[in-house]
Amino acid sequence: MNRAVYPGSFDPITNGHIDVIERVAGMVEHVTVAILINAKKQGLFSLEERKELILDAVKHLDNVEVVCFSGLLADYCRDNHIDVIVRGLRAVSDYEYEIQMAQMNRKLYPKAETIFLMTNPIYAYLSSSLVKEVAGFSGCVSDLIPELAYKKLIEKLHDERDDF
Ligand code: PNS
Repeated sequence: MNRAVYPGSFDPITNGHIDVIERVAGMVEHVTVAILINAKKQGLFSLEERKELILDAVKHLDNVEVVCFSGLLADYCRDNHIDVIVRGLRAVSDYEYEIQMAQMNRKLYPKAETIFLMTNPIYAYLSSSLVKEVAGFSGCVSDLIPELAYKKLIEKLHDERDDF
């Protein structure tokens, strides 16, 4: 297992994502964090903004790169000779969606194997969507996402309020 991709929408990255990245980085030679478009989610940050936040959060890991890709994950894996896809599993509720994606990716690119890491229980409830929702109502999320991501999130939410 030399090269793995950790795909997601990362809008924005959370401490739960970082926990998974750190663990994968300790298992393989090279990890690509791939920021992809989830057609079911409307983004708050642009892909480039998300990339900047992830780069800052993983700067202590020298075998991790961060890319943006607007196509299919299976095509990204094929084009870049990546045969391991890593996803975090937080709860049973994630399972159905994850199984569907893993099976579809297997159909599109059979060489890629999806492996799942159990999320650290302290982050089992954590998602980017919940962080944005709570922050949108001025709830405290400063200990759930990296420092720069928190700063940019608060700025973005203020900008959105000003535009309203
Ligand atoms: O963090 P998310 O939103 O759960 O990640 C989902 C993501 C972005 C990995 C998924 O939507 C994806 O792979 N999008 C890229 C387009 C694609 O390949 N879609 C088919 C997935 S089977």
